Amino acid sequence: MYRRIFLQNTGRVLAGLLGGPLLSKRSSHFNLPFDAAERVIDPRDEAFWALVREQFPLTKERIYLNTGGLGASPHVVVAALQNKINELERISETGHSEELWQSIKEKAGKILGCKAEEIAYTRNATEGCAIVCNGLPLQRGDEVITTTHEHVGNTLSWLGRQKRDGIVMKTFEPAVFSAQQNVERIAQRITKRTRALSIPHITTSTGQILPVKQIGELAAAHKLWYFVDGAQAAGMLPINVHEIGCHAYATSGHKWLLGPKGTGLLYVRENALDLIEAKHLGGYSNAGEFDMVSGVFQLHPSAQRYEYGTVSTPLFVGLSAALDFLLGIGMQNVWRHNFALATTLREGLRKLEVEINSPQSPEEYSAMITFTHKRMARDPLIKFLAEKYFLRTRGIYEGGLNAVRISLHVYNSFAEVERVLEGVQAATEQLE
Ligand SMILES: Cc1ncc(COP(=O)(O)O)c(C=O)c1O
Repeated sequence: MYRRIFLQNTGRVLAGLLGGPLLSKRSSHFNLPFDAAERVIDPRDEAFWALVREQFPLTKERIYLNTGGLGASPHVVVAALQNKINELERISETGHSEELWQSIKEKAGKILGCKAEEIAYTRNATEGCAIVCNGLPLQRGDEVITTTHEHVGNTLSWLGRQKRDGIVMKTFEPAVFSAQQNVERIAQRITKRTRALSIPHITTSTGQILPVKQIGELAAAHKLWYFVDGAQAAGMLPINVHEIGCHAYATSGHKWLLGPKGTGLLYVRENALDLIEAKHLGGYSNAGEFDMVSGVFQLHPSAQRYEYGTVSTPLFVGLSAALDFLLGIGMQNVWRHNFALATTLREGLRKLEVEINSPQSPEEYSAMITFTHKRMARDPLIKFLAEKYFLRTRGIYEGGLNAVRISLHVYNSFAEVERVLEGVQAATEQLE
């Protein structure tokens, strides 16, 4: 039933487009109509966002609400990836060149707010977290402060290091009602042995935007190394890692950035390159002479030192297309849209029988909203929403929660938010 409604709506929107100014710009799936970065796009501009939605092969037979887990890629990304594979397999070459690497990193730098030379390609956010965790010069007894709401991808490296090297992990529970309280909770845990902070930009659990800039000021005041896990932030909202003041920032290419699966970006501040030791070294880490007999080698002066062996060029050419796609819409427009959807969802959920686990303050909730039903456990609710309402959501167990998370990105719509609300209401009614 939902499919029918959706197709009807889409048909109406596209019919509207036929006479609209956007049509002249719309040529094919592979030729994007977006030059929107310089304009302010209304989140409720149905024609524009329907056109964005049309760029994705993502099925309309279910509603995809799990970008926090995995982002859907638009046609342009799939085509760029496939074309590059076809091109390179015909001649069996890696396709790597300094110019190509640099040009993609320049785009990534626009998304993260840094220089191309401060970016390394990784396979995922987990790899970026691991490079930082294992590369910091920590010693037995050194303390690192993090939250109790970390994703497993940023937990295991630290636990491994705790076991192997005797560092001490200290945690705090993120306060969802006050950003300032989080800064205070961190400050209260700082001792003479504290060396580093490892903080998510946006928590995977409740989608809370942590006050990463203020935390950066605290880190600087105490001369602490500061790592931010940005897996949930890059591609969801505008970011400026230089303003955050962190030494390193890791993210996925395959979530909010909408890139190929198995891509990630690691930012390491120029003057932290020698601080965070590159533990895996190889051809891509090297610049200049190397010799086993004399022991001479030269680390690459940029963050490329963290890339070591052959990397899949097609994956990163695909990521480049994804960056173009988002930059074409404009990150301010992306965020305005995602935030408006999240606000509508939040307001609707307040009228239902659920507890909203995500923060209340508009400065702190993001495009991921998490809630717990007051009378229905997480798994049966997720099953009900999937089977009866064709919603792909994600269960949350992180931070001890038993909740459902809804992620809202460029391909989601207000109609889909309404559908989530209807589904939750129907789940409640069938309990009665
Ligand atoms: C905060 C956070 N960090 C790290 C990860 C791991 O990301 P990846 O799968 O790219 O390694 C996730 C994934 O959901 C996450 O939410």
